[in-house]
Amino acid sequence: MCYAIPGKIEKIEDNTVIVDYFGEKRKALNELAQVKVGDYIYAQGGFVVSKISESEAQSILSVWKETFFELQEVDLRLSRLSLNDNDADKKLLGVLDKASQSKELTRDELLYLLELKDNNALELLFKTANFLRQKYHKNSCCVHGIIEISNYCRQGCQYCGISYHNKELKRYRLTKDEILEAARDAVEVYGFKSLVLQSGEDPGYSALELAEIVKGIKEKFPALIFISFGEIGTGGLEKLYQAGARGLLMRFETSNPKLYQQVHPGMSLESRLEHLRKAHEMGYLILTGGLIGLPGQSKEDILDDIFLAKELHAEMYSFGPFIPHPHTPLLRHPPARVEEVIKVLALARIIDHTNAKILVTTALETLSREAARSSLLAGANSLMLNVTPLAYRPFYSIYPNRAHQSEDISTQIESTINLLRSLGRAPTDLETI
Ligand code: 5AD
Repeated sequence: MCYAIPGKIEKIEDNTVIVDYFGEKRKALNELAQVKVGDYIYAQGGFVVSKISESEAQSILSVWKETFFELQEVDLRLSRLSLNDNDADKKLLGVLDKASQSKELTRDELLYLLELKDNNALELLFKTANFLRQKYHKNSCCVHGIIEISNYCRQGCQYCGISYHNKELKRYRLTKDEILEAARDAVEVYGFKSLVLQSGEDPGYSALELAEIVKGIKEKFPALIFISFGEIGTGGLEKLYQAGARGLLMRFETSNPKLYQQVHPGMSLESRLEHLRKAHEMGYLILTGGLIGLPGQSKEDILDDIFLAKELHAEMYSFGPFIPHPHTPLLRHPPARVEEVIKVLALARIIDHTNAKILVTTALETLSREAARSSLLAGANSLMLNVTPLAYRPFYSIYPNRAHQSEDISTQIESTINLLRSLGRAPTDLETI
């Protein structure tokens, strides 16, 4: 199983390497000692994560070679854009034409797109976003694995099923050995090249313990590690960076300070943003975004959310629907509508067409089985599979009935590969140079 295509190093300049993938050149940062021109490597998120032997690389590449160009053709076919629909609204065609030429849209134009309701209009919007995704990112799609290491949380986020509001929930905390074992499976058995470690804000682990865990994984099972443990402070971020973590997944949830205050008692948006900014300064890749469908959230708020993610240098945009959880204060608030969320993904692609990786969230898949496909055809180019040991997964109930909750890793991989193949996508995520 393989979620990245091996590339051959063509050139090394300081800590940057130029990698060849079937004739396409990509760039990555290298922190591994003993990497030289001619070596084969795996890279993720712009970082070299591991070196592999030439013979292993050749055998994987020979399998890929047959499909690589076929996939690109399928993708190109599926992402063609024609804005000559005579029946469509002229204003809509004008705005989308401007977007498709990578011109910056005005705030009014973006709000107009966010307000669209008509199915045909939405279809054109999604196609435009898909066109831009293909133009700037080709058919690459990154697939991360996530290990939910603990569901203890000291925070009271009003929407979240693992917050302290949920008194019914059985709490768990994986031991270091259990986490290493899950990481070993993900990397060695299933071939993941990047892992997200996530928990509630759990005082049960110290920053040092978390650092030991990250270090343990980096030493034994090379992968790009993202951390997602909530606000662990500057000291915590530093320790974990030193231990080898290179990405931070932390949503700011909403850019509206008033709404933030309402749904996060005792927390502050400023401190969360400060955390994200510090992390970026330290060199972390930033994965961030927000919840769609919070009470009282306006279209203006949502647009601000996308701009805030961009301002925070989001390497990946993570926007997902609110889903009510029965043991939280927001139990009676309705879930977001799937199209509303896909619209946000499409807008994120239009606003940040060149840089953004855009994630299809499990929450969106929970609301609709078709959501992953629809989102990948509306600007998204990233997926996250759950590699938490099966026995613990039901307890990480941030919202109920999570998609793929009881699917073992092989099943998730198989359906993901089938989906990606059918759309002509290939699992490599480096920027073309
Ligand atoms: N519905 C959807 N997403 C939720 N999250 C927490 N609770 C819910 C819910 N009820 C999301 C938050 C958090 C991420 C880990 O899970 O946005 O950042």
